[in-house]
Amino acid sequence: MQQFQLNGRAAQADVAAEMPLLWVVRDALGLKGSKFGCGQGLCGACTMHVDGVAVRSCITPVASVAGKAVRTIEGLGSLQQASPLQKIWAELGVPQCGYCQSGQLMAASALLQRTPKPSDAEIDAAMSGNLCRCGTYPRIKQAIRVAAERGVQA
Ligand code: FES
Ligand code: FES
Repeated sequence: MQQFQLNGRAAQADVAAEMPLLWVVRDALGLKGSKFGCGQGLCGACTMHVDGVAVRSCITPVASVAGKAVRTIEGLGSLQQASPLQKIWAELGVPQCGYCQSGQLMAASALLQRTPKPSDAEIDAAMSGNLCRCGTYPRIKQAIRVAAERGVQA
């Protein structure tokens, strides 16, 4: 039995220790907001927080998060109760198809929690591993700048 905290609540799943965290969260625990992109740690679509740090959940064995705090996009907010960061995303019309945006938001939130006023270079460094086939990069960067101006981190 694998046990950890998921969005502030105790979670457990009867799965193999080496199963990727992404699979456990999506398929065993039913939270579908984190996306499968490459499955190899290369695109960022699956980004979650583990103890506040952005991780690629597709290459993170669930056993490695035992007892730790995992946060997914569902822990940030919902359509009905969007977080301040999600509201900025909507205000600036950041998403296009939307597939990558869960990972983008989680990566941005981890950056802003670590560095509330990031420079453009720090934004580039933190976000460079999160790919967007729709090319929303300029809007993502602008949304992070706006969030920093407003003191928004999540
Ligand atoms: S799906 Fe995890 S990094 Fe691409
Ligand atoms: S919004 Fe389509 S992949 Fe990023």
